[in-house]
Amino acid sequence: MDVLEAIRTRRSIRKYRTDPVDDKALEQVLEAARQAPSWANTQCWRFVVVRDSATKGKLSDTLSETNPARDAMRNAPLVIVACAQLGKAGLKEGQVRTDKGDWFMFDVALAMHNLVLAAHSLGLGTVYVGLFDAKEAARILAVPEGYCVVAMTPLGHPAEVKDARPRKELSEIVFYDRWGA
Ligand SMILES: Cc1cc2nc3c(=O)[nH]c(=O)nc-3n(C[C@H](O)[C@H](O)[C@H](O)COP(=O)(O)O)c2cc1C
Repeated sequence: MDVLEAIRTRRSIRKYRTDPVDDKALEQVLEAARQAPSWANTQCWRFVVVRDSATKGKLSDTLSETNPARDAMRNAPLVIVACAQLGKAGLKEGQVRTDKGDWFMFDVALAMHNLVLAAHSLGLGTVYVGLFDAKEAARILAVPEGYCVVAMTPLGHPAEVKDARPRKELSEIVFYDRWGA
């Protein structure tokens, strides 16, 4: 599947089959994340691959009961938790270089989206999970000081077919030469 096709056809998947993800596919999606660009090549991302059922259950409980991805976190064969080393992206010699502060969210998102698109190209499903108690997830996974949990995704074979969600038209989001034009 080429990149444009993967971008066009990827969907958030919240229902998974229970059969495992093979190690080669897992390595391929992690390798896609590893190849992402990052601030001054600082590569602040770290990934925790969770296969243990009890740990997946605890991570699932960090989502509210109304979060539609909650069951997927428990039922998918594995979960990938994206973490970040703080104080690397967007800084030089310990000094913040832009008005945005630490760019860890940006860099982790780039790596995560490589991972998500690679997974889709291999026939695997994912859903970004951002609305959860990240501090509790860090505690569950023993993430050390200086790092934080950013986002998670279940990974597995989709057990649902999703329609595309609507998107704004290009005319609503793209300007030429100056804002609003
Ligand atoms: C940063 C981020 C956080 C998200 N957090 C959640 C979440 O906590 N639970 C969930 O079910 N979906 C979550 N989503 C998935 C979005 O709802 C989904 O991407 C959006 O509705 C568009 O649908 P699509 O991914 O199928 O194109 C998140 C997506 C992003 C990018």
